[in-house]
Amino acid sequence: AGPALRDSSGRGVHYLRISVTGNCSMRCGYCRPGVDANQPEPGRLNAGEIRFLVDHLHRRGGLRKVRLTGGEPTTRRDLPELVRAVRDAGVEEVAITTNGLTLERDAARLAAAGLFRLNVSLDTLDAGRFATLTGVDGLARVLRGIEAARAELPGPVKLNAVVIAGHNDGDDLLGLARYAAERGLALRFIELMPMGPLAGAWAGRYVPAAAMKATLRAAGVGLEALPETADAARRFRAELPGGGVADLGFITPMSCNFCSACDRLRVSADGDLHPCLMDAPRGNAAEALRRRDADGLDRLLEAAFAIKAAEHPEAGPAVMTRMGG
Ligand code: GTP
Ligand code: 5AD
Ligand code: SF4
Repeated sequence: AGPALRDSSGRGVHYLRISVTGNCSMRCGYCRPGVDANQPEPGRLNAGEIRFLVDHLHRRGGLRKVRLTGGEPTTRRDLPELVRAVRDAGVEEVAITTNGLTLERDAARLAAAGLFRLNVSLDTLDAGRFATLTGVDGLARVLRGIEAARAELPGPVKLNAVVIAGHNDGDDLLGLARYAAERGLALRFIELMPMGPLAGAWAGRYVPAAAMKATLRAAGVGLEALPETADAARRFRAELPGGGVADLGFITPMSCNFCSACDRLRVSADGDLHPCLMDAPRGNAAEALRRRDADGLDRLLEAAFAIKAAEHPEAGPAVMTRMGG
């Protein structure tokens, strides 16, 4: 293995995000409604190929964290095997991002396979709003899934909430903060990105982080900024009215303030390399992974990284949709 990978700005890959499927068990209005939970995906990487990729990046040095995303990663039956493959490659911090719908069933098996932590999408605590937004009457199931994950996993469970004007930008903000505070979970509010079926209506649905903070403050929440980290979120210590403290973050993809410190590589389910989430793929690694071709993989990774820009380009929500966040 050569020296640690560096892009043209000197950044290495510390954080690998692998989308393991495009399928999803929900149909969130802001994402990609209508995607099936079980569509055949003949080209997707298998556990052996993922193991080879992670092994390779790990040996090149600097890799600290691997996240398996989707679509919805738990729609893949062999997800525990994929988690195990990442662990066997020597990466301890293996995480997933999930809608939580089947965690009650999956958490113990994933923990046994070596999953360290996970992030759950939870946009509202109102069962009706949840069903409207996700197309699934599943709030109670997701809440039970969160409890199962807390009980089974060694690492923290984090919550992600995309905020949509007129939908969950009212009492849900304080409600979710209280829910998170009571359980000691970090909660990140995410600015809506213009993609999927809501793209056309984006301007009327977008809530900037500043407006979320104003709503929280008006509800009596005290926000004190925490020091900046490599996290995509700007984090705050939030003192809630009537007691309780939440670890609140705001992810602002529309202003993308963390690009200059970005140390991530994203790989799609079928092996496309995305040095930047907002940019088109720069090569496909499937063939090199299938053939366990380390030199070929190196050439692809270096070509992809050589062109990684210091700031991400304007375009890209279509890529976001494909990469499931
Ligand atoms: P942690 O490891 O817990 O910090 O998770 P994470 O924020 O890296 O991952 P997660 O999958 O929970 O993503 C949370 C939100 O951040 C989602 O809306 C993602 O779409 C968004 N996000 C994640 N990575 C990137 C990125 O590289 N660029 C941009 N613009 N958004 C991202
Ligand atoms: N805007 C912002 N984030 C989105 N996600 C999906 N669609 C959007 C969007 N339009 C992110 C959310 C969700 C994850 C799976 O993808 O964070 O929790
Ligand atoms: Fe599925 Fe996540 Fe997209 Fe919702 S946001 S449809 S849970 S991939």
